[in-house]
Amino acid sequence: MRVLGIETSCDETGVAIYDNEQGLLANKIYSQVKQHAYYGGVVPELASRDHQSKIVPLIQSALSEAGLKMKDINGVAYTAGPGLISALMVGATLGCALAYACNIPNIAVNHLEGHLLTPMIDAEPEHYPKFPFVALLVSGAHTQLIAVSGIGQYQLLGESIDDAAGEVFDKTAKLLGIDYPGGLILSKIAQKGIVGRYKFPRPMTNCPGLNFSFSGLKTFAANTINNLATRDAQTYADIARAFEDAVVDTLTIKCRRALDNTGLTRLVIAGGVSANTTLRVRLKAMIEQRGDEIFYARKDLCTDNGAMIAYVGMVRLLSYQYRTLTITVRPRWSLEDLTAV
Ligand code: KG4
Ligand code: ZN
Repeated sequence: MRVLGIETSCDETGVAIYDNEQGLLANKIYSQVKQHAYYGGVVPELASRDHQSKIVPLIQSALSEAGLKMKDINGVAYTAGPGLISALMVGATLGCALAYACNIPNIAVNHLEGHLLTPMIDAEPEHYPKFPFVALLVSGAHTQLIAVSGIGQYQLLGESIDDAAGEVFDKTAKLLGIDYPGGLILSKIAQKGIVGRYKFPRPMTNCPGLNFSFSGLKTFAANTINNLATRDAQTYADIARAFEDAVVDTLTIKCRRALDNTGLTRLVIAGGVSANTTLRVRLKAMIEQRGDEIFYARKDLCTDNGAMIAYVGMVRLLSYQYRTLTITVRPRWSLEDLTAV
């Protein structure tokens, strides 16, 4: 069985083909970041127009990379939400129309579930994270801790009450003169920073619970940068170091607390920020000290892509959770509202 996956929830057009026996056969991505960088963030109207012009050539190119035709595809999965409504509409209408024309099912996929199950895409089954586990979902739009007892069985343990971790990475990067989305570049600059020259707060770590708040860190960074006497590359690297350490420490403290509170022993990290090397290293150290296990996806699959949508589409197609005539788009769609597989 093969599923074509389409991702258009934000500023990446992603198309992939997943085969339930051979794994990922094609994974094509077109990133719009350069267009949005000028505005310092995603402009929804530009995003949807660009998805519209890129989606068909990307599907053709994924099929040709896999050496397949649409007649070889058994289902079309598309991101139905959460995301920007006009951007979602492009993938949803195209995906459903294509499925209808080919007389195959369409599968409405939750983008967050896509991220969450990414570590399973190309791992050997014996290296899959076994259920139950705690998941840390850290992306440009979400920061959530979730107790996962099976596919589609998600309980939200805590989330950001304001900015997401990726969002605050990007906003702080912007203050340091780095183009949108600056998370990855900020973390590269931070490697050259001196630890401890600046000290940033670890928000909400002293109060109980598993919620996060990151907007204060952004203000702290803005105040620190505005009050600088000298503006040189080393000072910027030191600030980047202090900022990244604060985010990573905060996430690590809350992950440890989530494992303690639930009694679970496995941690999965997913979403764009889970590609961050410092975060992986610190969480791994914390997990190994406890004798627990940690799982994450290969780095290029952490940010938005079609592969995660094709994978979830396959899982849900195999459990008969698909449609033929309905087009679904849900700009807001909690993981807790999903159906168990
Ligand atoms: O999952 P994703 O592609 O999009 C959403 O669903 O939101 O995540 C994108 C976010 C951006 O904020 C980007 O700056 C951040 O992930 N990101 C990183 C790194 N790579 C991507 N943040 C910190 N360190 C990285 N290495
Ligand atoms: Zn995402």
